[in-house]
Amino acid sequence: MNDAVKLDPKWGVADRTHDPYALANFCPRPTDVLITTAAKAGTTWMQQILHQLRSGGDAELSSIFDVVPWIEFPEPERDWRERLAEFEKIPDPRVFKTHCTYEQTPGAEMARIVLTSRDPRDCCVSMYHHRMNMSAAACEKIGLAPPGTFGEFFESWMDFGSWYRNVVSWWPHRDDDNVLWLRYEDLKQDLAAAVDTLLVFLKWQLNEEQLARALEYCSFPWMKQHADKFTARLPDGSPMFKPKSFIRKGEVGDYSSLLSPQQEQAIIERARRELSRECVAFLGL
Ligand code: A3P
Repeated sequence: MNDAVKLDPKWGVADRTHDPYALANFCPRPTDVLITTAAKAGTTWMQQILHQLRSGGDAELSSIFDVVPWIEFPEPERDWRERLAEFEKIPDPRVFKTHCTYEQTPGAEMARIVLTSRDPRDCCVSMYHHRMNMSAAACEKIGLAPPGTFGEFFESWMDFGSWYRNVVSWWPHRDDDNVLWLRYEDLKQDLAAAVDTLLVFLKWQLNEEQLARALEYCSFPWMKQHADKFTARLPDGSPMFKPKSFIRKGEVGDYSSLLSPQQEQAIIERARRELSRECVAFLGL
């Protein structure tokens, strides 16, 4: 497809992290596994979990983005055609990451969907650190200044509202046969149980040794120690984030370190306005 061809507006508008042409032209397969998260809800963790389960334990991976690509992420050096051509070469089962809504996810109705949700208060605070920990070179390259005060950041996070859009759009599909919805908080509490659930859902099998290896490589200490495998990079190969900052704290409830009671209330009240009662209860808000 030519870039001049008018796309269905459902694929959204191009920006720093969203290439609608890649989405419109992506060819999903029924064997694909798509990780569909709101930003900072444990996407990278799920990328690592699924890569480790698919491989039976791989400590040698160089970058998680090579083995579990982000479908709609525009790369300055390669256009969407080249990226999609690379995706075609990945053997089944392919695993991809996307931050898209149900409507914008190509193959949402037929690929296997693993959605990880996380308390929006923690997602908000995690995103603040994400932005603060971006290297000066990365900020300059992508033309994004670090946030000013936390208050300013908070207002922009609420205005952008992508956490709400993600959950609102996926919730009606939570019981679809091809969808598995996991909560970050449950993974934190019992990763082995969540992994069992994933293996049943995906019909993948591991022996005990492979499983033990996979669990070790998905642990917070292992990922923190090998943080260079999980940081996004600029075209010259330099990390986009300050050393070891991307795999940051990995805690439930860290929001209390930064959110005021009023900010917390604003996040929760909006969730109660925009989500169904059942969804709010499921998320524990
Ligand atoms: P914090 O900033 O709260 O520490 P995403 O990958 O969607 O951007 O999410 C990033 C969040 O997931 C960060 O949260 C990061 O520390 C956390 N994370 C990454 N790996 C993890 C792991 N193995 N265990 C727990 N949390 C992890």
